[in-house]
Amino acid sequence: MSATSATLEIRGVSRRFGKNTAVSAVDLSIPQGQMVGIIGRSGAGKSTLLRMINRLIDPSQGSIFFDGTEVSRLQGSPLRRWQRDCAMIFQQFNLVPRLDVLTNVLLGRLNHRATIANLLGVFSREERAEAIAALERLDIARTALQPAGTLSGGQQQRVAIARALMQQPKVLLADEPIASLDPLNAKVVMDSLQDINLREGITVITNLHTLDTARTYCNRIIGMAAGKVVFDGPPEDLNREAVRMVYGADSKGGEISEVITSTSVTIKQRIAASTGPLEPAFPGY
Ligand SMILES: Nc1ncnc2c1ncn2[C@@H]1O[C@H](COP(=O)(O)OP(=O)(O)OP(=O)(O)O)[C@@H](O)[C@H]1O
Ligand SMILES: [Mg+2]
Repeated sequence: MSATSATLEIRGVSRRFGKNTAVSAVDLSIPQGQMVGIIGRSGAGKSTLLRMINRLIDPSQGSIFFDGTEVSRLQGSPLRRWQRDCAMIFQQFNLVPRLDVLTNVLLGRLNHRATIANLLGVFSREERAEAIAALERLDIARTALQPAGTLSGGQQQRVAIARALMQQPKVLLADEPIASLDPLNAKVVMDSLQDINLREGITVITNLHTLDTARTYCNRIIGMAAGKVVFDGPPEDLNREAVRMVYGADSKGGEISEVITSTSVTIKQRIAASTGPLEPAFPGY
């Protein structure tokens, strides 16, 4: 997609909410084409960091650069252009449920177009063909005319990815994209993100609450704890000590077992709450 090799630079970025520091003095350099997984306990600052990258919220301190441009200072149409270049998908998909799938995907193109064309709601034949191709790539073209709200969670996340592709992004941010999905749909969605990363060279930065997913799909893992980056390296360097630094010790002073960071939405909530024995609540883990 992009011929340039553009690096995302995060320099001394912090974000405070009142007295609470959600993200604290984060420095990261992410070259174009990496597939990055951000891990950490609930409240570690993962979502806040992603949301600052595409300017859903602004840093309290520090700067974010992409390809040499300080995106943390952009306003108006340059800001919209950055938000187009930097697509985002969410745990809850954020589709318009009453609109059909095809229109939801076409909405990814809005920032590319003249306001008048947007007001008239007209999409060209080429745009429609591209949207269908994106849906075909994600193996859901047959749902094109259904209201998005009638699809399963896994299908809806694939629609959200197709919509992100329509933005022709350089960076794709994903905030816990598989946290609401069953393991099979989770695999389909992660495989799709990996395919986009490998085939188009789009940088993918995804928050993940399952360590095994981060290890399987990401070539770089960033571990956050209390707003700070406490691990940054390839999956093979994420040893027991590093996992302990990211997730901390459990309430009994023992180490957090890797298995309890594994595939379940509710497990994350249990880690956050740090209560009770895990085994009876999670048969099969
Ligand atoms: N809009 C907000 N207003 C006030 N506090 C916020 C806001 N957004 C985040 N926070 C706080 O900032 C901290 C980091 O939150 P964040 O959502 O970034 O964590 P997270 O790592 O994404 O957690 P989770 O795994 O639960 O999604 C938390 O203490 C949270 O309560
Ligand atoms: Mg979050």
